[in-house]
Amino acid sequence: MQSPSNAQREQLMTVPMSVSVSDLEANPHDLHARCREEHPVVHVPELDAFLVTRWDDVRAVCSKSAAFSSAQPNSSLTRLVGPNMLHSEGVDHRLARAAVLPAFRQPPASLDDAWAQVSEALPTNGVVDLLACGVEPLVSLALVHLLGLERLVEAATMTRWGRALDAAAADFGRDDAVALELAAVREEIGEVVSAFLLSAGDARPTSVLGCLLANGVREVAPLSQAMQFMVLGGHSGPREGLATVLALAVVAEDDVRERLSSDRLARRSFTEESLRWESPVGAVTRVARHDIVFKGVPLRSGTTVLGSLSSANRDPVKFQVPHEVRPWRDEGPHLSFGAGAHGCMGAALTRWLAQPLLAGLNELGNVDLVAVPVWRGWWFRGPESLTIRVGSARSHT
Ligand code: HEM
Repeated sequence: MQSPSNAQREQLMTVPMSVSVSDLEANPHDLHARCREEHPVVHVPELDAFLVTRWDDVRAVCSKSAAFSSAQPNSSLTRLVGPNMLHSEGVDHRLARAAVLPAFRQPPASLDDAWAQVSEALPTNGVVDLLACGVEPLVSLALVHLLGLERLVEAATMTRWGRALDAAAADFGRDDAVALELAAVREEIGEVVSAFLLSAGDARPTSVLGCLLANGVREVAPLSQAMQFMVLGGHSGPREGLATVLALAVVAEDDVRERLSSDRLARRSFTEESLRWESPVGAVTRVARHDIVFKGVPLRSGTTVLGSLSSANRDPVKFQVPHEVRPWRDEGPHLSFGAGAHGCMGAALTRWLAQPLLAGLNELGNVDLVAVPVWRGWWFRGPESLTIRVGSARSHT
């Protein structure tokens, strides 16, 4: 490891407290709470970054672009998938976002029966992991349709791609097996894009790839890059998020479950509260645009700043008794989808996917948890599994 430069040493000496990634992973909420109270901006040495934990400050990191820049041409994300809208800003960002916006305006009609398709494949009796067999296939199917690949790619292939890109994003090129799988997936994506271009005339204009074609992007390389970015952005976040929504519904009281099966607004409220309670994406990343002093901590120009969405969502200044799940909580929006110019493009799709998931829960019949769900992770966080025993229909009991 390189020793810090004089400038870094000077910066570190003035930092009041530091936290480690393993501590954040082991017990994020208690650690965040301590940070919010005592040291709202803390150093995370392994990430060479500063973590911001209070609601107002996290909002500022997300949206005050005069102080915090999104442009990160050397970030691990940019190195993995190439130039992308998330780590760009200004005109480049606006153009990239506007180009694919029509694909995110409303969910593709072809997805209307997505959950019915996925749940049909679930066993009617026996033990099943609803995360691996329900949530993840649903998210993958949605991505296939969002991208406009329904004639070329199966949901299971999309799951494999998502997992390979996730693994590569977390591995930083250390593990040869991960790098090999990534290379194979990239090649497959290139082949699929080539096949897609052969029938470009049939592309759905409201799909991501259809939008890019309409904007004159017609080469394999930039289309493949865009696909890799969307698969990475649209895999883990919604998988963890919808898994949390479903897990909390499975453990909810019967009266809550009954309401979820019949009341659309209740499902909406429950989804928002679940995503607030456990933010699927832990933090947003920005860099300090200039030398600044933020909440008493000097940050040099170019310093990485992480806005902890997970911590902001449990700030008692914003939410009463924030550690409690209150299904019908009405205290304004959470930050799980970020805020500002880079706010999540897939938020509406995710909320839409949660509807049939919650509405259909009672149709699965008697749902008995085999093990109490355990939430893991910090960068991405969700229940590790959701293993249930399904039996005869609830209405028959
Ligand atoms: C529970 C589900 C999801 C969560 C929690 C989530 C979270 C986020 C967050 C926090 C950001 C902002 C990052 C930042 O400001 O640095 C973001 C951006 C983004 N998300 Fe999501 N996301 C979810 C689902 C999706 C889905 C299904 C897609 C579909 C591909 C998607 C695509 C994007 C894109 C394209 C951006 C970049 C927007 C921009 O840079 O202007 N997300 N997401």
